[in-house]
Amino acid sequence: MMFESNTIDALQPLDLICSFPIPVASPICAPNQGTFPKSFDKGRLRDNNSSQSKIEPINSTTTEFFQTMSLKHYLPEKTRIWLYWRRARTLAVIKKAGHKLGLGKFIWKLALPAEAGFWEQYLATGGKSCNTAEEFNFRISPDSEFQPWLAKWMNCPEGAEVRVLDVGAGPLTWIGKKWNGRKLAIDAIDPLAEAYGQFLRRLGIKPPVETKAGDGEDVVKLFGRQVFDLTFARNCLDHSYDAIQAVTSMIEATKPGGIIVLWHGPDEGETECYQGLHQWNFHLENAELVVWKGDKKLNVNRAFAGQLQVLQCELQENWVLAIYRKVQT
Ligand SMILES: C[S@@+](CC[C@H](N)C(=O)[O-])C[C@H]1O[C@@H](n2cnc3c(N)ncnc32)[C@H](O)[C@@H]1O
Repeated sequence: MMFESNTIDALQPLDLICSFPIPVASPICAPNQGTFPKSFDKGRLRDNNSSQSKIEPINSTTTEFFQTMSLKHYLPEKTRIWLYWRRARTLAVIKKAGHKLGLGKFIWKLALPAEAGFWEQYLATGGKSCNTAEEFNFRISPDSEFQPWLAKWMNCPEGAEVRVLDVGAGPLTWIGKKWNGRKLAIDAIDPLAEAYGQFLRRLGIKPPVETKAGDGEDVVKLFGRQVFDLTFARNCLDHSYDAIQAVTSMIEATKPGGIIVLWHGPDEGETECYQGLHQWNFHLENAELVVWKGDKKLNVNRAFAGQLQVLQCELQENWVLAIYRKVQT
């Protein structure tokens, strides 16, 4: 799949006319990762073979025309902010109606290219585009340490091969690559893997773990049942087209005794007015994880009560963190 600037332009005609800075939640913002700007420059994806700077401002003649006509030049700040929120609300209503009509996957496909643009900029700047250069270095290092707060839940003796799946991993998995005495075998999947691969190759970056193409919804189809010691999803299933299916699939793909980690911003779909890829909501109800969109709702703790032991289910630095152990059967 090629990601053309035209697709991005076509998706955001209102953005162009109004030329507002579009607040977008940083795809990688998560606790303990530094602070992130709430906006980034919209960029256009360049020709696949281009060796020049990978991101440049949108500057077609049509766009320039719209920018000259931009309301930005004529409207006071307060009015622009009001208009921005009106627009966001209107789009949210339209999108919610689309979701109700079962068009979630279609809306998701339309929004994918914009997500790719964010990550291209992230890679091109070594993480500086969102103030996470240190985290970028961690992701890119083949010697980065497997996160101890994950390791502590896992019953994997020294010498064991530990199979880990990072769902919606982005171009560079966030999981640490080395765990003393164990052999970590990390699989990373993401629907945008092909685009990420193109960016990485163009930038000459060799990832320690190559992200392969795959949707969270298809984990069992891709890997089978009871395969992983850890299935992990961070800040991604709220971007999926069927988060309930993705969570279910992750649970099925986890070995008995293995760990499932779901780590998401609270009710991102609602908070972000269903902009971009944000489609689903994760929150806690009485310390139980609930995944929902419209009238679709899954209380993970209750739905899988016989299969999962709850290890942790809490709000941490305003992020919903749920950790389960799959019960031995
Ligand atoms: C905000 S990024 C997070 C990446 C990574 N997990 C991290 O924490 O840095 C969200 C990722 O979710 C991916 N995504 C979108 N739809 C998905 C789906 N159906 N299944 C799995 N991942 C998906 C996007 O392509 C994007 O790379």
